[in-house]
Amino acid sequence: MENKETLLEIKNLVMDFRIGHSKSNLMRAVNDVSFELKKGEALAIVGESGSGKSTGARILTRIYEHSAGSITFKGKSLADYVSENGELEYARQVQMIFQDPFGSLNPVHSIHHHIARPLLIHKRASKQNVTEKVYELLELVGLSPVVETAQKFPHELSGGQRQRVAIARAIAVDPEVILADEPISMLDVSVRLGILNLMADLKDKHGIAFMYITHDIATARYFAEKTAVMYVGHMVEWGESDSVTQTPQHPYSKLLLSAVPEVGRAGRRDLSVRKGEIPLWKPSSVGCPFASRCPIATEACIQSMPEATEVKPGHYARCHHL
Ligand SMILES: Nc1ncnc2c1ncn2[C@@H]1O[C@H](COP(=O)(O)OP(=O)(O)OP(=O)(O)O)[C@@H](O)[C@H]1O
Ligand SMILES: [Mg+2]
Repeated sequence: MENKETLLEIKNLVMDFRIGHSKSNLMRAVNDVSFELKKGEALAIVGESGSGKSTGARILTRIYEHSAGSITFKGKSLADYVSENGELEYARQVQMIFQDPFGSLNPVHSIHHHIARPLLIHKRASKQNVTEKVYELLELVGLSPVVETAQKFPHELSGGQRQRVAIARAIAVDPEVILADEPISMLDVSVRLGILNLMADLKDKHGIAFMYITHDIATARYFAEKTAVMYVGHMVEWGESDSVTQTPQHPYSKLLLSAVPEVGRAGRRDLSVRKGEIPLWKPSSVGCPFASRCPIATEACIQSMPEATEVKPGHYARCHHL
């Protein structure tokens, strides 16, 4: 199980957004984020709204261009993929699925069309065998009877079925990585587990790596081997999911986890820790972003963000008070 191939290696990633039209008025949505994603492994990214989770995923799918830091995929920098006309190959291997499966499907096209298109674009099938391949994928994601499903349009399916179509479309091109941005949060509670188990199968049996963005710590632990906690664009704690969720060390993670009333029932609202002001982080900001809300903050926390401390083997946190 060890020595799995590292697929994505992210180092010191930074993303600044302009506030309004001024070039100099910036907010830092992602600050000094580093992590690795290995083959067949899932990393859950948890954190309150606005912590930079989706921005991170959008950078990895090249929707946004990052301001600083490096992204390496299979040993080659993203910049090199782009400069060597390898964007399409990168895009094939790093797929994304979104929160709203309805929004990501085109209402005027059949399910067949949605899955056949990437197969043809990325030359995973020919015109002759594309339908057969569409049926195989529908079967794989649990959408049978496949012939009937392929003829349907997005509005004729349930939310859970639509998310299965989005997953089939993503895996059609044999990706190495799927970036799943809150893939179950808009679905009926009754179908969420089915989608998570489908993703777990793709991970365990097909070796696909997942970055699983969620507000739900219980599902992070259920699905992902590793968990990273984000706060105001910073990764404050990360490591094995069991260790991070059961023995959190950073005061923010502790607060976040204490706000989850019952494992298995954690929802979006449960994650909001309402005490104190969430700071607007600027490129010039210093210190720990949690200092303004932290019960144990001292002068050092206002002055600087500490380096990571290994609190347990493979479990890290960035806090002056560890
Ligand atoms: N295109 C953009 N232009 C300006 N600011 C942006 C843009 N995209 C995101 N932001 C800002 O960056 C910060 C992080 O946003 P992001 O969407 O990554 O958060 P998130 O962790 O995904 O939140 P949620 O849990 O609500 O989805 C927010 O303050 C947001 O307003
Ligand atoms: Mg988001």
